[in-house]
Amino acid sequence: MKKTVLVAGSHGSIGLALTKRLLQNDYRVITASRSDLPSDDRVSAHLCVDMTQSDNVQKIRDWLSPYSSDLKGIIQCAGILHDDNHSPEKHLGQVSAEWLEKSMSVNVLPHLYLSQAVSPLINSHSELTWVSLSAKVASIEDNQLGGWYSYRMSKAALNMFIKTLSIEWGRRSKRCTVIAMHPGTTPSALSEPFTKNWPQDKLYSPSMTASRILAQFEHVNAEDSGRLYHHDGTVIPW
Ligand SMILES: NC(=O)c1ccc[n+]([C@@H]2O[C@H](COP(=O)([O-])OP(=O)(O)OC[C@H]3O[C@@H](n4cnc5c(N)ncnc54)[C@H](OP(=O)(O)O)[C@@H]3O)[C@@H](O)[C@H]2O)c1
Repeated sequence: MKKTVLVAGSHGSIGLALTKRLLQNDYRVITASRSDLPSDDRVSAHLCVDMTQSDNVQKIRDWLSPYSSDLKGIIQCAGILHDDNHSPEKHLGQVSAEWLEKSMSVNVLPHLYLSQAVSPLINSHSELTWVSLSAKVASIEDNQLGGWYSYRMSKAALNMFIKTLSIEWGRRSKRCTVIAMHPGTTPSALSEPFTKNWPQDKLYSPSMTASRILAQFEHVNAEDSGRLYHHDGTVIPW
């Protein structure tokens, strides 16, 4: 029986590459995204859903139910850094409640609501591995440059959520793993405005990033739970 992995936020650059890589590696892949259709016809099931909305928790739960017994992992890719009207803040005066709230909404809520949909499945036999894509710039200890207030604050909130979730699910199952991961700088709609002057040797293709995330996904176990990992497998301080 193939192991099932859910890729959420499956239509972003990293989500698309992860879906492909998991299929190549013979996983059964199910996906969830705001897009109507799956990105690949080998995907076993696809849910079109906006995970920033709390009233979709039950919809996700019902959809997941047939896959629950084989569900090996979940990789939640949702995140936002900028939109047509907002760039990451360079200084305090650019911070607005509106953009901070939007950043919180996309960087935290899809991770929260998806975990609420999954939570009833976590029992003493569960061996689920949960990965939330976060960012190194959310590390409070690692913040040397400042700026990017809303992204840093919302991803730091995500990191606290992951730590707290790892404790709750860890109490329920000794074999459940919950981690956050920095995928590395990867070309995407999210990173595009900021990669022009980025060193080429530190810009990783989506397929390279997907391989690294999958390697980490397959490597971690419950003892590694509750941490933020770099794409090279080292731990980033919270
Ligand atoms: N690329 C990088 O260099 C880099 C570096 C550090 C961290 N990350 C993190 O890696 C993750 C994937 O990023 P990516 O580079 O693949 O970016 P991307 O191509 O822009 O994908 C963004 C993801 O966020 C979801 N999303 C965007 N806006 C949304 C909204 N308004 N409401 C709900 N969902 C929304 C998309 O889901 P749909 O499938 O529904 O479209 C998609 O999964 C993000 O969490 C990002 O913060 C990326």
